Amino acid sequence: MKMGVLFVVGVCVIFYQYHLSTSVRLDLSNTASGAADGLQISNDDAYVRASKILEDTIRETVKSVQRKAGLSPDVGTLLVRELLNQLGKVGFVAREDDRVAGTRTTAHGGGAAATTIVPPCSEPPVAEKAADDVNPDPIYVITPTYRRPEQIPELTRISHTLMLVRNVHWLVIEDAAVATKQVTDLLAGTGLKFDHLVAPMPDKYKLKKGAKPRGVSNRNRGLQWIRANATKGVFYFADDDNTYDISLFDEIRTTKTVSMFPVGLCTKFGLSSPVLRDGKFIGFYDGWVAGRKFPVDMAGFAINVGFLHARPNATMPFRAGYEEDGFLKSLAPLEPRDVELLADNCTKVLVWHTQTKKNEPSAPLDAKKYGDTNLVTLKRQIV
Ligand code: UGA
Ligand code: MN
Repeated sequence: MKMGVLFVVGVCVIFYQYHLSTSVRLDLSNTASGAADGLQISNDDAYVRASKILEDTIRETVKSVQRKAGLSPDVGTLLVRELLNQLGKVGFVAREDDRVAGTRTTAHGGGAAATTIVPPCSEPPVAEKAADDVNPDPIYVITPTYRRPEQIPELTRISHTLMLVRNVHWLVIEDAAVATKQVTDLLAGTGLKFDHLVAPMPDKYKLKKGAKPRGVSNRNRGLQWIRANATKGVFYFADDDNTYDISLFDEIRTTKTVSMFPVGLCTKFGLSSPVLRDGKFIGFYDGWVAGRKFPVDMAGFAINVGFLHARPNATMPFRAGYEEDGFLKSLAPLEPRDVELLADNCTKVLVWHTQTKKNEPSAPLDAKKYGDTNLVTLKRQIV
């Protein structure tokens, strides 16, 4: 870690010396053009390009330290932000305003690949509705995950779904003390806006016999992130073992308070859904009611970010089987009859609790027989 920071500082020094030697002014943004190596380049261009190189180097370096030394993603993100802030103050890197519209800029994701396209500012003004269509408010997808043979295939599947969704920000939260390299690598390759966080299940629950509150510390960490970073949009708890129809995301985008919709392959009824008669909500259908006020599945509701902000104490309880109910109750005032019913009055199934078959961890590789083959690399990628 220290080595990584020293390396970053070293890169900055070399970079500074380089800019002195080439007389490219990093601390000025002007439109004058000058000759360099026989080419007419504007100082503006050189500045933006050079600062992009420095910024990329910082991100890559922190990412590489994160991989090699298991630096927590939170600390990695913070380190990148702090370094860029400090360098921005002394004019080493371009501030957001100085960048060329329409270029790719890094978002506050957990790695270099967390990118967003900034639309050109010269776009003609459009009606508000149309603007919403082009640039909708974000959907924050909170996905708890943990290390097991199915983890990477599951996350691959979800990531490919999310690639088809506009303005989505994926919060992937591991039930682990340190980030898993395979997950870090996967996220870096998606091109999605994301944050990679860790939130281990406390030992008192982990060591408990019987049903455990799975994914609860992860989801509460996601809520904490939303409270600290999100101002508008909608969030949704998307477990890693479900299948999502992409149209679900356009459905939940409109959520003003709390919305609900059917989930397939759920409980003994094969379905969990609000029930409507004559277009009116009359109750819930779920194979496991157990005295719950909101007998729904985790994948069966979405919430407006502002609605959460107005309820600073809302949290998910560490109570197996009652996570959804406990969380929705903590959003009081909220009554079942007040929820927004989506998916054509709950007539469509757009999400399924698929539950990939559990696999045993793979048998160890015979190193004598295969120690010098491709299987060594492959084995490193599986559990
Ligand atoms: C669902 C809910 O998501 C759980 O919060 C709840 O405990 C459970 O129903 C219940 O009602 O008893 P379930 O489908 O049974 O969970 O459990 P999983 O799919 O295994 O886990 C839910 C999420 O938490 C997944 O995204 C999974 O990757 C994650 N998880 C699971 C962890 O982060 N850590 C674990 O140890 C297990
Ligand atoms: Mn599940």
